[in-house]
Amino acid sequence: MTAGDKGVLAPLGLLAELTHRCPLRCPYCSNPVELHRASQELDAATWGRIFREASDLGVLQVHLSGGEPTARRDLPEIIRHAVSAGLYTNLITSGVLTDARRFAEYAAAGLDHVQLSVQDAEGGSADRIGGYSGGHGRKMAFAELVRAEGIPLTLNAVVHRQNLDRLPEMIELALKLGAGRMEVAHVQYYGWALRNRAALLPTRAQLDAATATVERAREELRGRLVIDYVVPDYYAKFPKACMGGWGRQFLAVSPNGNVLPCHAAESLPGFVFPNLREVSLRDAWENSEAFNRFRGTDWMPEPCRGCGRKEQDWGGCRCQAFALTGNAANTDPACALSPHHDLLDLAVQEAAEAAGDFTYREMGRSPAAAPAPAG
Ligand code: SF4
Ligand code: FES
Repeated sequence: MTAGDKGVLAPLGLLAELTHRCPLRCPYCSNPVELHRASQELDAATWGRIFREASDLGVLQVHLSGGEPTARRDLPEIIRHAVSAGLYTNLITSGVLTDARRFAEYAAAGLDHVQLSVQDAEGGSADRIGGYSGGHGRKMAFAELVRAEGIPLTLNAVVHRQNLDRLPEMIELALKLGAGRMEVAHVQYYGWALRNRAALLPTRAQLDAATATVERAREELRGRLVIDYVVPDYYAKFPKACMGGWGRQFLAVSPNGNVLPCHAAESLPGFVFPNLREVSLRDAWENSEAFNRFRGTDWMPEPCRGCGRKEQDWGGCRCQAFALTGNAANTDPACALSPHHDLLDLAVQEAAEAAGDFTYREMGRSPAAAPAPAG
């Protein structure tokens, strides 16, 4: 099947995973279980070529991410490459490694926007969840640096059972730090988070209270703070259009140069992802089997095949379908029409009975005790 047959669109956004190194150890990390080592990372000049190719392909924004992207000493050079390629640059960071001198270098390189992740509003809890002592205090100081440079800030609050009750305080924190936007992002359960699902999945009552909090805050803070919020899959009737659909709007590049339809795709078996040391970004996007396998709707099984929503949610998330059913081509079990939907109800029950301990993300350690896929 060629690109034209599939109606290939131009991607809008590129997630550049500059490194998998990170001082934090969040138990819901979205990085793959098999992390790339520093010796495998692309150099700044290669990222520069990738950004130019991305811009030629139609990409508008690059998200500089990781791991922790500020662990790269050459980050100012990488930012300059993205800016000179004409891309809008968004730095997604935990903020804990950056002092005033370093941040001034990022600003001077032309950085457009910062997205700062927080683990909680309360320092002790935040440091426990991130597995990094003193991290919350460093984040607060980092936010001051962003404000002082006049760079727009989004606060990214990853929420789950162990911090969701403090969502009002997290919204207060966003205001205090001068963020113009806040993402209230429920944990997505694959990879590390799947291993920790029983400790992280919120209860229905928590979710309902959080949804009411967001609705109230949106009303009260209109014009001051924009809040993005998506209900977690485990309590939704239909899945989200993960990545806006496989190979439709988005691509990710891993630290070693693999091109991926989503940040978690390396967890899927049976794929050979193109590598940008060997192929161009355009070739990978338009012609690779990895991007074309789940592009469009022709690949879909029932019930998606005959469903009126198939061009809205694109069958949901391939990584979640694989994590829960063992087959990435299945309908996402988050869909109430999926024959595997009862797996989510079981997970909610299991979480209701679970203790609060979790396994931290570690290099070289695999969350091997993830729930067994269904047949
Ligand atoms: Fe979406 Fe497939 Fe469910 Fe229809 S059956 S709502 S296309 S996931
Ligand atoms: Fe990979 Fe949803 S996270 S397709």
